[in-house]
Amino acid sequence: MATTTSSLPTEIPLTHPAVAITAARAPYSIINRATEAPGPGEALVHVEWTSSTPLDLHQADGGLLITNPPQVAGSTFGGTILALGPADDDSSTAAAHREPLKVGDKVFGMAWREDRERGFQTFITTPTYLMSRLPEGMTMQEGVTVSTNLVTVLHCLPRDLGVELPWPVTSDANVEGDKGDKEKWILVWGAASSVGQYGLQVLKHWGYRNVIAVASKRHHEELLTLGAKVCFDYGEKGVTESIRDYVLAAASSSGDEQPAIPLILDCIGSLEGTLRPLTKLAEKGTKVAVMLPVITKHASEDEAPEYAMDATEVLKGEWKDGVEVRGVRTHHYPQNEFMKNHCQPDIVPALLEQGVIKPNKQRIVEGATLLERATNALRILRAGAQSGEKLVWRIDEKSAEELFPGVLVLKADPTTAETII
Ligand SMILES: NC(=O)c1ccc[n+]([C@@H]2O[C@H](COP(=O)([O-])OP(=O)(O)OC[C@H]3O[C@@H](n4cnc5c(N)ncnc54)[C@H](OP(=O)(O)O)[C@@H]3O)[C@@H](O)[C@H]2O)c1
Repeated sequence: MATTTSSLPTEIPLTHPAVAITAARAPYSIINRATEAPGPGEALVHVEWTSSTPLDLHQADGGLLITNPPQVAGSTFGGTILALGPADDDSSTAAAHREPLKVGDKVFGMAWREDRERGFQTFITTPTYLMSRLPEGMTMQEGVTVSTNLVTVLHCLPRDLGVELPWPVTSDANVEGDKGDKEKWILVWGAASSVGQYGLQVLKHWGYRNVIAVASKRHHEELLTLGAKVCFDYGEKGVTESIRDYVLAAASSSGDEQPAIPLILDCIGSLEGTLRPLTKLAEKGTKVAVMLPVITKHASEDEAPEYAMDATEVLKGEWKDGVEVRGVRTHHYPQNEFMKNHCQPDIVPALLEQGVIKPNKQRIVEGATLLERATNALRILRAGAQSGEKLVWRIDEKSAEELFPGVLVLKADPTTAETII
């Protein structure tokens, strides 16, 4: 845990409510947590909105990554900076080119490692490299749909599939040039999911043209606008044969050693729903990146879900020889120093500002209390009832402006401002 070196502004409550997991399949509880002052390179954020992700279900019902309950839930946040810790050397060097964050800034992000930074609580204390400034004209509800899965595709496309995403994007990135790679067939299975939608948009921006999307028919029109060249419905019988026939008919070259579909992004990681059909499409030389965990049994009201964390171990013997299966682990992304310093602070907001990335559609989850909203969102995830949309809900019903006007005055008066990174 980071050392706290600054104190909390006096208006900020010393403790605050947080939604916590106490045991797998136990209902969410509210715990009271100490509000922590930001240490070097950190910010204290008043959380106003969050989004629920399937990881919340994997944790609440499956106990995935729950190491020391009660554990604060959530991995996304949107809110207002109320205090900043002193600059640390790393973050100030990496941030030298951008306008510094300040008290009062609206930010959003993905943070998952410790209780103090997880999103389902009214205050978080987290490093600034895990946050993005909210672009002008964008709502917080839109912002909280973005980070987890845009970061996921920016991390896994290069790392697990070898798809190059140079940053900053040069003007020729999506025209002529390295045509060979840009024309490879890339199959995005589960394209209507949040991961899939950001995957299509990222591939489009970096000039990958031959992207096949697999999703329910009702999403096809939208997915074509996001970057798919063609869409298939996974509910249709014989979908894998249809995809294969399409690619073979459309491929310009034949008879070489290349697999018909060299790259596959499995945005869902369901044993029966995605991996088994993909064993029919992947062949020698195909790389398959699978969102972990592999869901071997889906959650339900009556039964606990089951997961596998090694994608290479499931369906062993059913993949053709020479298929490379990799499990995606976005939580490792800060191990890449460039991604740590630039992904959330620079790349995510720039892609939104440039209009390259359209946030997921939002479904607002209502409830009278923090606990009720968290529980209602979890029920929707358990029922698998989110389709082409992100569940978003309020953490604190009041904004920082309503609650802490005195703290935010600092923003307008630089002579009284506390340490600013
Ligand atoms: N390990 C990692 O780094 C990492 C990172 C991000 C996400 N994930 C995991 O990836 C999974 C997806 O996350 P998400 O946030 O993108 O989920 P999501 O948006 O909540 O996914 C919902 C969508 O899944 C689609 N779907 C369900 N079963 C399908 C199937 N058999 N074939 C095709 N589409 C199917 C549905 O599509 P239709 O509407 O078309 O029916 C629905 O729109 C989750 O399990 C999550 O935990 C892992």
